[in-house]
Amino acid sequence: MATMEPGIARHYDISGLEERIIAALADTGVDVAHLRAGDLEAADEFHIGGVAATKELVDQMDLKPAIKLLDIGSGIGGPARFVANNAGAEVTGIDLTQSYVDIATSLSKRTGMAGKTRFVQGSALGMPFADDSFDAAIILHVGMNLPDKAKLMSETARVLKPGGVFAVYDVMRLKDGALTYPLPWATDETMSFVATPDDYRSAATAAGFSVTAERPRGAFAIKFFAEVRARMTAAQAEGKKPPPGVGLIMGEDARTKIANLTAALEGGILAPVELILRLG
Ligand SMILES: C[S@@+](CC[C@H](N)C(=O)[O-])C[C@H]1O[C@@H](n2cnc3c(N)ncnc32)[C@H](O)[C@@H]1O
Repeated sequence: MATMEPGIARHYDISGLEERIIAALADTGVDVAHLRAGDLEAADEFHIGGVAATKELVDQMDLKPAIKLLDIGSGIGGPARFVANNAGAEVTGIDLTQSYVDIATSLSKRTGMAGKTRFVQGSALGMPFADDSFDAAIILHVGMNLPDKAKLMSETARVLKPGGVFAVYDVMRLKDGALTYPLPWATDETMSFVATPDDYRSAATAAGFSVTAERPRGAFAIKFFAEVRARMTAAQAEGKKPPPGVGLIMGEDARTKIANLTAALEGGILAPVELILRLG
């Protein structure tokens, strides 16, 4: 299944993405020569609910200061910078897409956070880290690209210390039903491996995790996309560029991806789900 990975990385690779983000922020009056991590919030969190969803997930982890945290599928680094800033964690991000690793690194440098975050290229299904390297881990909207949830869980269990917390926030399948592509994580069905909460729980417990909390967030997701669409439509009506938001990172066909995902959310087929797991 590793053969899928180059195609998945190409799906995410948007040409000139960092420049587009900086230009969009400058258009809204942000002083881009002196960026602070908070300035990027609208544009560097690539999952349903943006920074609010990251905060709600991380708040459930009870993180101690100065821990080492792993962000699996770290994208362009928004969640990693949030946790470094708000929980005082030292964060390592790993991501399949080299251009995202480069942008994450550059945005951390631009915001003075290069010492608190580092980003490496690699796959969640074979991570280049020694056993027991991290105190905690997060994964936000990545599992949909991972064909092997058992491997995700066993790899995460391997690199976490005993007692480590793993917070999952992925789009999961709640019932049968056809999906229409493209979706934000997949150009077509060959890249999409959406699984049920039951699949995640079984893979997690087999790897030695216990499930301490679970929360489906379908209604929250529908509301989030209604707001994103309203902002994009208002900008279009005024002949303006869309404001910085999750649509920017989804590229040219953002509207189609959002419409297809919204249909699956409204049909109750998919929903983002939080799972809080503890090793041992
Ligand atoms: C929807 S984005 C989420 C990014 C980030 N977690 C966030 O919330 O902002 C999905 C990310 O998963 C990454 N990804 C996909 N397959 C992966 C794999 N096998 N290993 C590591 N990262 C992967 C993609 O490159 C992309 O950055």
